[in-house]
Amino acid sequence: MKNTPIPFEVVKQKIQESKLPSVGKASIRELVKLVNEIEKETGIKYVRMEMGVPGLEPSQIGIDAEIEALKRGVASKYPMIDGVPELKKEIARFVKNFINIDVDEQGCIPTVGSMQGAMAAFLVVNRCNATKDTILFIDPGFPVQKQQLRVLGMNYETFDVYNFRGDKLRDKLESYLKKGNISAILYSNPNNPSWICFTEKELQTIGELATTYDTIVIEDLAYFAMDFRKDLSKPGQSPFQPTVANYTQNWLMLISSSKAFSYAGQRIGTMVISNGLYKRRYPDLKRYFTSDEFGYAMLYGAVYSLSSGVCHSTQYGFAAMLKAANDGTFNFVESVREYGEKARIMKKIFTENGFTIVYDMDEDKPLADGFYFTISYPGLTGEQLIEELLYYGVSAISLAITGSERTEGLRACVSQVQRNQFSDLEVRLKRFNQDHRN
Ligand SMILES: Cc1ncc(COP(=O)(O)O)c(C=O)c1O
Repeated sequence: MKNTPIPFEVVKQKIQESKLPSVGKASIRELVKLVNEIEKETGIKYVRMEMGVPGLEPSQIGIDAEIEALKRGVASKYPMIDGVPELKKEIARFVKNFINIDVDEQGCIPTVGSMQGAMAAFLVVNRCNATKDTILFIDPGFPVQKQQLRVLGMNYETFDVYNFRGDKLRDKLESYLKKGNISAILYSNPNNPSWICFTEKELQTIGELATTYDTIVIEDLAYFAMDFRKDLSKPGQSPFQPTVANYTQNWLMLISSSKAFSYAGQRIGTMVISNGLYKRRYPDLKRYFTSDEFGYAMLYGAVYSLSSGVCHSTQYGFAAMLKAANDGTFNFVESVREYGEKARIMKKIFTENGFTIVYDMDEDKPLADGFYFTISYPGLTGEQLIEELLYYGVSAISLAITGSERTEGLRACVSQVQRNQFSDLEVRLKRFNQDHRN
């Protein structure tokens, strides 16, 4: 029996009881359950890095506005499908203030999180043109979006961008686009799970090719303004959140409130459709929708099919936070900067103890510190590493489920780790390194 920080026999037994064919291939929720059980049995707290839930409190501004709205009686009333006017106005202002892109309020459609936004987007983009029925993921990425496509019976292709940064991106993207079946390109920026942030040159490449090949870009901004290397917190002032919208008309954005506003539980985000794309007519849409106009099909066809609007009170909460951000009275970026600070310290603890950061550069610049980072340990596969780390009280997920080819790597999420756990992390990783060196 090995002497490990978490009693070896308990971990082993719980793994066996879980009946998982492989711990290393477990889904996030399966891993959460397993670690919960080990914690319960041993009474020892893990350094939990498997789940991407916000670890910070939301702003009181949103909560107060929601309570107010509920007191006014919105709960009994269906919200407008296209969103309450106050929210649409603040979204359009927000896009101008923090991304420097002009968009009509019409194209700002609240969604039940970016999750619903992606589902609605897939329902429309894959039907604009009968010959274009496939989404191209610039991976690694958020696994649930592929699950959505599988559920819809739709096609996708994917490649890991690790070896195709900078100038290499153009040829790689073109190799897919020239086949003529790609309806849309999807990526998150900053990226879940790797935290790479595309450079302006890369965004320009994506935008130009989207125009050339008449493909739509779905820009998933789930981690809006969280590249903390730049100060993206000042409304109306450069630097702005980088976007492909500077380089093509064919874009729609998904902006989530979950992480940037710590509002995951209230399930609200927004889809933002470019003015050009909103009005564009695609005759093939008529196969599924009453209108061939992209925006109309999106709103009254797709979004409406998924939910009769977004929670009424939450729309007011989100509107109030956006308004305060737009007015410069609420610095939403400052309130989540803690993630970056924690990542910096945690990455150091890992690298000092024999680990390597897998995705480590944005072309010639070291990666930003943010919500996630990626790690590997020499000589171990990702699957082995997840299982081994469990004996040392550390949990993370495998990059293999994210479309990454770096199967030696794990994704670590900083949000649930408290600063007072850093010393535990250090002690445990030191032990891990002593036990696994050579
Ligand atoms: C890249 C990415 N897109 C979308 C989502 C979903 O966001 P929401 O909570 O707004 O549905 C997440 C959540 O983790 C994510 O990481």
